[in-house]
Amino acid sequence: MRITVVNDYATLSATAAGLVAGWVWAKPDAVLGLPTGSTPEGMYRALVSLGLRFSSVRTFNLDEYVGIPADHPQSYAAFMRKHLFDWVDIRPENVHIPNGMSADLEAECARYDEAIQRAGGIDLTILGLGPNGHIGFNEPGAPWDGRTRPVELTEITRQANARYFRNRQEIPRMALTMGIGTILESRRILVLASGADKAGIVQQFLKGPATPDLPATALRSHPDVTVMLDRKAAQQTALSGVI
Ligand code: GLP
Repeated sequence: MRITVVNDYATLSATAAGLVAGWVWAKPDAVLGLPTGSTPEGMYRALVSLGLRFSSVRTFNLDEYVGIPADHPQSYAAFMRKHLFDWVDIRPENVHIPNGMSADLEAECARYDEAIQRAGGIDLTILGLGPNGHIGFNEPGAPWDGRTRPVELTEITRQANARYFRNRQEIPRMALTMGIGTILESRRILVLASGADKAGIVQQFLKGPATPDLPATALRSHPDVTVMLDRKAAQQTALSGVI
């Protein structure tokens, strides 16, 4: 794993966007695995500012809530429109987000994995880190060879997402997520973490034992992972060889 520590969130966002832009310039029809959450918002803003061409890019989002329609403001589909897709020249047919409103969630997930295969696999997956070390919505205990599937959200994840919903009842209990196996098949992975709130989980992710109890530790077996942290996220981790 390559680990890069930068000064602050603004630098993290600009540096991550620069990396992504470089990869897309090199391969204009790149297949990207995309995250939601507050962490990548600045990177998306920076990508939009760069004027990066998305006309041949294909995207697969990591996850979506179950039971939240795409036009609901807190759906991940709405998040992606607001932060990226409405501002770049991506073709609607090249955007893929699991449909959490499907009447057959298992079939929807199988269809999603097949679509990733048909696209030739994912070139670059960008990940945030959940408060319990989840990636996508792969919560602690998720199988490391797991495929895209319906999952139940843990209490800690529901708490972390409570800020987006008006009341507790509204917070989704289930989601569809790419599995850890699906994520590990991506040719490259970029993990972003920012802020002191993430310092503890970043320390465990990078220095603690590799275990399904901390899903992000599965990434250690992948040959091409870049972890990008700001100073606050890195503050509990003694790192050497840091940029
Ligand atoms: C959600 C998403 C994850 C994301 C995580 C962290 O649970 N499913 O993909 O990484 O939130 O979000 P944030 O970046 O807001 O800390």
